[in-house]
Amino acid sequence: MTQALYRKYRPKQWDTVIGQDHVIQTLTNSIKADRVGHAYLFAGPRGTGKTTVARLLAKAVNCLNEDPTKRPCNECDHCKAVNENRFMDMIEIDAASNNGVDDVRDLREKINFSPSQGKYKVYVIDEVHMLSGGAFNALLKTLEEPPPHAIFVLATTEIHKIPATVLSRCQRHEFRRVPIDEIVKNLKEIAATENIQADEEALTLIARQSAGGIRDAQSLLDQLSSTGTKITLALAQQVLGTATSQTVLDVINSVLDHQPARGLETIHKALDSGADLRSLARQLVEYTRGLMLIQMGNAEQVEATREVKTQMEAHGKAFTSTDVLRMMKIFNNAAVDLRGGWQPSLSLELALAEVIDAPAESHQVAATPQPKPKPVSAPVAESKPEVKSEPQPVVETPAINSNDIVKAWKPLIATLPKTNATLSGLMNSVRNIDVQGKTLILGMASDVLVEKLNKPDQIETIQRLIKDHFHVDLSVRCVVNNAKGKLPTHVSQDGMVAAAIQHGGEIVDMDE
Ligand SMILES: Nc1ncnc2c1ncn2[C@@H]1O[C@H](COP(=O)(O)OP(=O)(O)O)[C@@H](O)[C@H]1O
Ligand SMILES: [Mg+2]
Ligand SMILES: [Zn+2]
Repeated sequence: MTQALYRKYRPKQWDTVIGQDHVIQTLTNSIKADRVGHAYLFAGPRGTGKTTVARLLAKAVNCLNEDPTKRPCNECDHCKAVNENRFMDMIEIDAASNNGVDDVRDLREKINFSPSQGKYKVYVIDEVHMLSGGAFNALLKTLEEPPPHAIFVLATTEIHKIPATVLSRCQRHEFRRVPIDEIVKNLKEIAATENIQADEEALTLIARQSAGGIRDAQSLLDQLSSTGTKITLALAQQVLGTATSQTVLDVINSVLDHQPARGLETIHKALDSGADLRSLARQLVEYTRGLMLIQMGNAEQVEATREVKTQMEAHGKAFTSTDVLRMMKIFNNAAVDLRGGWQPSLSLELALAEVIDAPAESHQVAATPQPKPKPVSAPVAESKPEVKSEPQPVVETPAINSNDIVKAWKPLIATLPKTNATLSGLMNSVRNIDVQGKTLILGMASDVLVEKLNKPDQIETIQRLIKDHFHVDLSVRCVVNNAKGKLPTHVSQDGMVAAAIQHGGEIVDMDE
């Protein structure tokens, strides 16, 4: 097994540490002046060089080279021993697994012994924030009176968890996330040395994904190079799960064209052919995020092939920024919500339905000059029930106050057996409840929904529920009604389930 890249390329000299010049400057100055402190705290994100610099420090203070400006020389016995992990006087302790008082006490006992090889015993305590309170106190005692031959380097990714008493005893150095271009440069050098074929765009994507941590970037390069093929952007995207698939483009186009059925079909096809639901949802989030960045003028931050970027630019113009933000939020919620319950794809289906349903509304409200066609849910509501008899008063006196039904609606739904989830979904989607004479009028968001609800057995069930509860016989009529007039306040999903059903979804079961 070959050595991991991030081990192999651990800097052995100060000048090969990337992006931490402010730290290196101070440390090398104190080495040159032979004024090294006894307690250091290195804080910063993982993989930014804390352990690396701690080792350099241990090496430099023990280096046998006569010229202090050349330390560490990497040639003397001590330097070599450190590089080969056999230097007795550099002791690395992982506080995550040795975090008790006894561990620190043990350390304090050993500390009094002089170094066996070098001039200084260097203790590197990694993840020091993991120490227990008692262990911190014990450590503090040592930090207050360290033996002259001891140097402590405490490293942490979570400086806010370090007690102020400990902080005040240490020389503090903050390690920064390494800028992307510097990571790319490092990856390029490694690729050249290792004979790894890699496109620059791919390395840039890797660098971005590693959020300023060089170790992660090097590990990703390692992982990708193990495929044995050239590392192209497409490969990197595929492995890192950031690829924009045709599915994503098709889904977004279906949103643009207000073609929910097509969008759903695309999703189902992708899933049928083995696509991972979660990564599809994430890709949709990534894509809409790309649209947002492009709309904000940050196109250069978008990682995508040229073709996809061209698509994104077109989509960026076709959608308003409000639409894009909504899509991003909704798809993101879906991605978070995919818990793989009874119907894992439902979150995504609902998200699609919601996304398609509302942008058109936001256009109307925002009074955008170029109105988009909205063929799916007809905005013109057939809000009035048909009138059956001849001379008709304006409104028939209701047999029962419609507000009573509104209030009882949710409890009524709850009395339905679980096997009747379709009906409860549909009842949950009712937007408007009204009673005229002896007719209960249920307003639904679309004619598809009306059709779904308008099945004799379902209507009968609703009639029975009403009769059992209110002891009145009402006939039930379903009408299309988009108006938000008498919205039953309890219907929290406000048409979400409705929209899914409208787009062909069927509720088979429901979680409580
Ligand atoms: N600033 C850096 N310059 C060059 N390489 C780095 C740097 N930071 C991390 N690396 C690479 O990542 C590996 C792990 O870094 P390490 O020092 O253990 O990070 P940390 O202790 O901050 O988590 C190193 O062996 C090296 O290959
Ligand atoms: Mg470390
Ligand atoms: Zn040396």
